[in-house]
Amino acid sequence: IDITKLRSATEGVITVDPGYKNTGSCESAITFLDGEKGILRYRGYSIEELAEKADFLEVAYLLIFGELPTKEQNDKFHDDIKAESIVDEDVKKILDAFPKAAHPMGVISSLTSALTAFNPSSVNVDSEEDMYKSVVRILGKFPVLVAWTFRKKEGLPLDYGDNSLGYVENILKMMFVKPNGEYTQNQILVDALDKLLILHADHEQNCSTSTVRIVGSSHAGLFASLSAGISALWGPLHGGANQAVLEMLEAIKADGGDTKKYMAKAKDKSDPFRLMGFGHRVYKNFDPRARIIKKAADEVLGDLGIDDPILDIAKGLEKEALEDQYFVDRRLYPNVDFYSGIIYRGMGIPTDMFTVMFALGRLPGWIAQWREMRLRKEPIGRPRQVYIGETAREFVPIEKR
Ligand code: ACO
Repeated sequence: IDITKLRSATEGVITVDPGYKNTGSCESAITFLDGEKGILRYRGYSIEELAEKADFLEVAYLLIFGELPTKEQNDKFHDDIKAESIVDEDVKKILDAFPKAAHPMGVISSLTSALTAFNPSSVNVDSEEDMYKSVVRILGKFPVLVAWTFRKKEGLPLDYGDNSLGYVENILKMMFVKPNGEYTQNQILVDALDKLLILHADHEQNCSTSTVRIVGSSHAGLFASLSAGISALWGPLHGGANQAVLEMLEAIKADGGDTKKYMAKAKDKSDPFRLMGFGHRVYKNFDPRARIIKKAADEVLGDLGIDDPILDIAKGLEKEALEDQYFVDRRLYPNVDFYSGIIYRGMGIPTDMFTVMFALGRLPGWIAQWREMRLRKEPIGRPRQVYIGETAREFVPIEKR
């Protein structure tokens, strides 16, 4: 079918598909997902292999440009990103204006949008060269904004890190370097963060990615589109689930660790409570990322010598859910966020920063999807509706209503 010909209500049928459960919004060559078989591939490479063998920057390059980089391409990409890692000093004034209690997702979304104001030329991207500039600019500046958001909240002085380090190593240093400059690199944490970021790097047309594509389809700039995507990610039914999972596990622990009570709550239709970190719109047998992350959680906490009772509650909940008819019938399995928060916690990252870390990982995916949408010259996103309101009515003056 030539979909461009189905232009109006008079020419074609309008389908109503709340939540777009069966509606494809685009054609894409970036991420392949088979929810029945639990397969996830970036540009044809399995997530298992990428998480094991590649680093985050290589995966970012792969997602954005379609091929794994050669050593030279990788070095140049990293150099170009490093050259863009300085953030305008005035951005600090915006950061200062936020109250201490501000949620980091609100802060990072605002700062990302503000980058458009500091880089007005980034809005007009007419060539691949312009796009490349915006891509390396945001990959350079976003980790700085993440680290600054974290440090501001923690009351720590802001830091630019050390550009001689690897991309992920530098993120950790920017976040955790002490005010006196002291910092010890922990390879276990670097590897764990690298893996987590890879697992989150893209997931085809989810809520935040669709948001980035639809905002970008109006030819709003990359940074404005990303800022909208970050806001979409914030919600507890999407990226905010990693924060919600940990809060739920902590509540269960504080309540005596009775997982059965919370299982019953999740099944009770008169109770809005859902088991956070369970269920997925597309994965109906297992989430391949959850498998990798569960193993990583065990390894990381083991390597760090952390014995976290929260991990035991999580495992108990998972076991019970897998044997429970309600969850089996609805094919609800732990998703990627069920275990990610436990690892972030082990790394010393506060709960309300979890979704920001997710955004850091998803950044290359959003960029790749935005770039693909622009290169394919996709039309502006503009869904139709089926109107169910009043038919034509006569206006009644206010004194007669
Ligand atoms: N706990 C209890 N019941 C659930 C859960 C859950 N976590 N998830 C779905 N259900 C139930 C629903 O109540 C519904 O039951 P019903 O058929 O008896 O009415 C059925 O399972 C289907 O649920 P939907 O909401 O229709 O499924 P949908 O595909 O629209 O939602 C979603 C997927 C949003 C992920 C959902 O499973 C959920 O809310 N999970 C918890 C939040 C979460 O973990 N989000 C992270 C998603 S992954 C990510 O963004 C990286």
